[in-house]
Amino acid sequence: MIRTIIWKNNTVVLIDQNALPLAERYVTCKSYKEVISAIKDLTVRGAPAIGVAAAMGAALGALYLPSLPPKEFRRKFFAICDEIAQARPTARNLFWALERMKKIFDQTKNEKQKNLVTKLINEAKRICSQDIEINRQMGKYGGKLLTDGDNILTHCNAGALATAGYGTALGVIRAAREQGKKLHVYVDETRPVLQGARLTAWELKKEKITYTLITDNMAGFLMRQGKIDKIIVGADRIAANGDTANKIGTYSLAVLAKAHRVPFYVAAPLSTIDVSLETGDSIPIEERKNEEVTHFKGVRSAPEGTKVYNPAFDVTPAQFIKAIITEKGILKKPYRTSIAHMHKGKKRS
Ligand code: MRU
Repeated sequence: MIRTIIWKNNTVVLIDQNALPLAERYVTCKSYKEVISAIKDLTVRGAPAIGVAAAMGAALGALYLPSLPPKEFRRKFFAICDEIAQARPTARNLFWALERMKKIFDQTKNEKQKNLVTKLINEAKRICSQDIEINRQMGKYGGKLLTDGDNILTHCNAGALATAGYGTALGVIRAAREQGKKLHVYVDETRPVLQGARLTAWELKKEKITYTLITDNMAGFLMRQGKIDKIIVGADRIAANGDTANKIGTYSLAVLAKAHRVPFYVAAPLSTIDVSLETGDSIPIEERKNEEVTHFKGVRSAPEGTKVYNPAFDVTPAQFIKAIITEKGILKKPYRTSIAHMHKGKKRS
């Protein structure tokens, strides 16, 4: 099984997603600052994986603080969490995981610092192992939506690499395969960082799931040709009404899917849903550096001085989404109601 992130001997070990698919190598983060850099430079990426990295980063931060009076220890730990929260703005899971770490801290206030640190490390490990479990659950529900012989289109990488393991959108594909269905996957290359070409293709090849790589601008033509039966993508943040932020290019796919009557599915854990946001208009969209667009692997591909706009995500309005696959079941329209219902259920459990 592909493991994206593990806690090992009081360090955080990450598969280096910038090196894939050319090299399979690992990066060891020995401090929370190194975890922040790894999130920022996409060594670790994908909403659930960012959440796990953030939690482990917070645990590392606590581990290496000197012995402090309780109030000071809390102040410093919360400041570390707030610093990690600045790493990337869009993925809800980053903030969700840090809130969970802060909660554990406050639940165990009267503990000695050493014991509190052990609890924080255990919580970060738990967030990691639960993520794999959640993805498998999502796969069980979502796999049933796929039919033997389907041609599935996916965008970006919502696989094992974007999570602690197994994946969300790719997890659904993996599960359908485990359910005995033969599938073929069209992989959008996903400009500008090529998460599709570099990471999704790498995962599918490793799993021996048949796939075909296309450039993003080919998707409409394939739909018109009747080559795509279903589309499944992951999510970085879902608003209370179901509007979904995901990798730039997802919105165009969803509109094309509607025009060609291709079912468009989102697979995401409940931790990606942000019920504090009424609609997708309030989701913060990260803008990344110009070089991602003007260069490829350090080689310039646009004239010097070219003006660039590089939003990393877009928002797909809920009306274009046929269903949202979660670990607790499949959400249908109207999403405001189904999400509120599911959220209450989650709080009850
Ligand atoms: O910029 P990235 O690579 O972190 O963007 C990742 C995506 O957009 C994924 O589709 C999303 O996080 C879902 S991953 C299960």
